[in-house]
Amino acid sequence: MIILSLSELPISEDVPELFKPIFNDYGLDITRYKPAFMKRRIDRRMRILDLNTYSEYALVLKKEKSEFEELFESLSINVTNFFRDFSVFDKFRLEIIPKIVSGLDKHDKIRIWSAGCASGEEAYSLAIMFAGETSRYGNTIEIIANDVSEKAITFAQNGRYIANSIEKLPNSIIAKNFHMLTNVENNIEYEVNPSIKNLISFKVCDILSTDAKQMDVILCRNVLIYYEREAQELIINKFYHSLKDTGYLVLGMDETMLGRRCEKLFHPSMARERIYQKIPSKKH
Ligand SMILES: C[S@@+](CC[C@H](N)C(=O)[O-])C[C@H]1O[C@@H](n2cnc3c(N)ncnc32)[C@H](O)[C@@H]1O
Repeated sequence: MIILSLSELPISEDVPELFKPIFNDYGLDITRYKPAFMKRRIDRRMRILDLNTYSEYALVLKKEKSEFEELFESLSINVTNFFRDFSVFDKFRLEIIPKIVSGLDKHDKIRIWSAGCASGEEAYSLAIMFAGETSRYGNTIEIIANDVSEKAITFAQNGRYIANSIEKLPNSIIAKNFHMLTNVENNIEYEVNPSIKNLISFKVCDILSTDAKQMDVILCRNVLIYYEREAQELIINKFYHSLKDTGYLVLGMDETMLGRRCEKLFHPSMARERIYQKIPSKKH
């Protein structure tokens, strides 16, 4: 049996090899994740369980499905915010939404996907932004939002956030889209209003197996960074086929298509904001 201690391990790339067959048995392809990211998550679980060697941890993982579930949940980094990178939302609202609406009939729905939505703030930000704009144009909105983390989706569906999460939002947005609640510990929370909640369907689901077609907009922000290049290519191809010919894809500020094969599928509408538009297939 291979014994690898944390200090013995010279390069992070060794970790996936040891765990690969165990993850395979649980149906998880760990080669999709960046090795250094995977190693950090495994090391964290080992510290929590007070284990010193990878082989000890491998044994626990093999025997206990609950530990696999804990590790899988820990692969989901749920950090997020309402209107994360505010300028991206603002530019999208001012310059892209009018273009989307101009290509639609008044009765057409605007279809939006928040891919890797974590605890829901991104999907609610989209709903608030589009609802604010479409009252002017008359189109209705349909948002799908998914995440692999069950905990994150349960939280998102509840739509209740501590006061700190919304404190930076303009008062007018809070007053229009949230109502105040006091929870059992007497702390103040804000719940998203039903008119906004009802625009979104949340689902526990992997991006690659999400059923999404004819989307006008896909936001997939701060998700690709955890994946290897080939997995990133797969995900971006999935988005390409899920978008309308005129659809837009928005990535996170640290994510790019530069140097990827999929670069030829999109052109940057606003490069700094990572807002891309699909190039229809007959054009490339
Ligand atoms: C850092 S959060 C980003 C949340 C939000 N998009 C934002 O930018 O604020 C990344 C989320 O992506 C989810 N995720 C990672 N891989 C995924 C996949 N293949 N399918 C669905 N969700 C995924 C994680 O569970 C996590 O909640």
